[in-house]
Amino acid sequence: MKVLVATEKPFAKIAVDGIRKEIEAAGYELALLEKYTEKGQLLDAVKDAYAIIIRSDIIDAEVFNAAKELKIVVRAGAGYDNVDLVVATAHGVCVMNTPGQNSNAVAELALGLMVYAVRNFYNGTSGTELLGKKLGIHAYGNVGRNVARIAKGFGMEIYAYDAFCPKEVIEKDGVKALDSAEELYKTCQFVSLHIPATADTKNSIDYSLLKNMPKGAMLVNTARKEVINEAELMKIMEERTDFKYITDIMPAAHEEMNRKFAGRYFSNPKKMGAQTAEANINAGIAAAKQIVSFLKDGCEKFRVNK
Ligand code: 3PG
Repeated sequence: MKVLVATEKPFAKIAVDGIRKEIEAAGYELALLEKYTEKGQLLDAVKDAYAIIIRSDIIDAEVFNAAKELKIVVRAGAGYDNVDLVVATAHGVCVMNTPGQNSNAVAELALGLMVYAVRNFYNGTSGTELLGKKLGIHAYGNVGRNVARIAKGFGMEIYAYDAFCPKEVIEKDGVKALDSAEELYKTCQFVSLHIPATADTKNSIDYSLLKNMPKGAMLVNTARKEVINEAELMKIMEERTDFKYITDIMPAAHEEMNRKFAGRYFSNPKKMGAQTAEANINAGIAAAKQIVSFLKDGCEKFRVNK
């Protein structure tokens, strides 16, 4: 049985070696499709795959139609908005993610981006510090919790809002839990986004939220570009010269933002949050183990298309 690793943005080699070990020890064959540039390559590679490990790779109806033997897709990572769950279910394919496995890497990058931005992108001019500043964590999941842990070391005053996480859970970590996103954005000069891209969250970070951020506002996005209402973010940045947007995920309007908001806009050229050897090993090997226990024992822990 063929298990395919299909990663347009490849894992570190050490992670691929670990995945291979798990898959081959279970008696399956590992195939690799890395750094592919055309969808046709993916459609060809999935033809005889029983299982696929992916990252942000798009797994849509065309892929499911081409993958006649497919039983399981594991997204090595947290967000699975790149997989069409309705089509997966219609094809009888189980979809899983590997929650928490890459969250420290993303959290470290969020703080790294904040430091980079408050120090004026290391351009030699005097910047500011994070100590004593108010940080709002929007969604207190695995990444949000790690952001809180690291931000404590910087001496930041930490707030969080999560529509699904009980306030007691947040406050147990010494983080102040707020009742609404509105309150979070009104309170915090720095906001770090950790919401998934869903029908409810897409375009939800809009003018009405951002306009109330305190002076010297900085919005840091290591989540998804789809959650931002880009037109309204640009309106704020046009109105407020104190507003900074720092992102790991390049917006559609990147060129325009770069031109208009020089010095207070930055985007990584490619999403890098989870691009560490440790995160690749954790998420990649977890994905391989989940596939083996699904194929051998029918274990559906971490299934996301119930
Ligand atoms: C995730 O959802 O796990 C992160 O956004 C990382 O995505 P990546 O595997 O595409 O880097």
